[in-house]
Amino acid sequence: MSQSTTVAVIGTGVIGNGWIGRFLAQGLDVIAFDPAEGAEERTRQVIQQVWPSLEKLGLAEGASQRRLTFVPTIEEAVQNAAVIQENVPEREDIKRSVLTNIDQHAKPDAIIGSSTSGIMATTLQQGLQYPGRVIVAHPFNPVYLLPLVELVGGEETDAALMERAKAFYQSIGMKPLVINKEIEGHVADRLMEALWREALHLVNDGIATTEEVDAAIIYGAGLRWAQMGPFLTFHLAGGDQGMRHMLEQFGPALKKPWTKLEAPELTDELKEKVIEGCESHAGNVPISDLENKRNEFLVKLLDLVEDYWPQSKI
Ligand SMILES: NC(=O)c1ccc[n+]([C@@H]2O[C@H](COP(=O)([O-])OP(=O)(O)OC[C@H]3O[C@@H](n4cnc5c(N)ncnc54)[C@H](O)[C@@H]3O)[C@@H](O)[C@H]2O)c1
Repeated sequence: MSQSTTVAVIGTGVIGNGWIGRFLAQGLDVIAFDPAEGAEERTRQVIQQVWPSLEKLGLAEGASQRRLTFVPTIEEAVQNAAVIQENVPEREDIKRSVLTNIDQHAKPDAIIGSSTSGIMATTLQQGLQYPGRVIVAHPFNPVYLLPLVELVGGEETDAALMERAKAFYQSIGMKPLVINKEIEGHVADRLMEALWREALHLVNDGIATTEEVDAAIIYGAGLRWAQMGPFLTFHLAGGDQGMRHMLEQFGPALKKPWTKLEAPELTDELKEKVIEGCESHAGNVPISDLENKRNEFLVKLLDLVEDYWPQSKI
């Protein structure tokens, strides 16, 4: 796709705005739609706040916040777009109705990516006139910095469209992970959910505070995962023989009940513990300041990942 590509962003909450930041930084024209009052103003504020991080990462030629336009209907947003990114609330009824509307007005060859975290592409494709162009394109917050996007087709998706989608997301600096089998939560969220459930149990059972759970990841596993992920990290845990020795040595521990897997009941007491823990850990620092700090950190980390992991094939 060329630098004159027009993309449409439908729904401009946390994730929609993240996509807008990425698309603008890549020098694309963006047309956005969101029915909420004040949506445009909020988006422009967010983009202004994150622009310094995007500048540090490097803007494409011609990239400008002025290339964002808000329009009052879905029809106007999608009619000339080569790529349409849907980011409305995670409810099947809302997604289906918005996608039906997009389907009626989009160009037949447009790529329609849904940011859904958990709804399958086949479900989203039902009842559409051109279902084959709808895929899941699931990003990670903040979308303007994190490169991963999970691409999942449905029963109606054709291979050529998936190839075009992969090329497009690569062209905007992303690492598209094409997942060939549909499954709730795709890949990354299934992994994160498993950790999240155990974290809630540890807090619920009074074993660790929210701050201590965070420290266990920040100063240990998280540092390694940013470079290698769980498999190669454990490959190195097995000494010279790598994963072979690792499985021999720690394989039996898999039978021990170190994980509960089922989530704990989200009681009012647990909710309060988690919310109070996060608020006291964060102190009086506003969320926008924490986001700025996170962004500065991620920009540096992305450079490191690039330097230390050049052989990645994804
Ligand atoms: N928040 C995350 O970390 C995250 C990560 C990856 C994917 N996602 C997925 O992205 C999608 C959006 O999540 P979010 O966190 O940005 O939600 P959000 O609540 O922040 O934003 C949703 C936006 O959709 C708008 N909207 C509601 N009805 C609409 C309609 N009919 N047409 C257009 N816009 C409409 C709302 O006004 C709101 O601005 C969900 O499918 C979610 O699963 C979220």
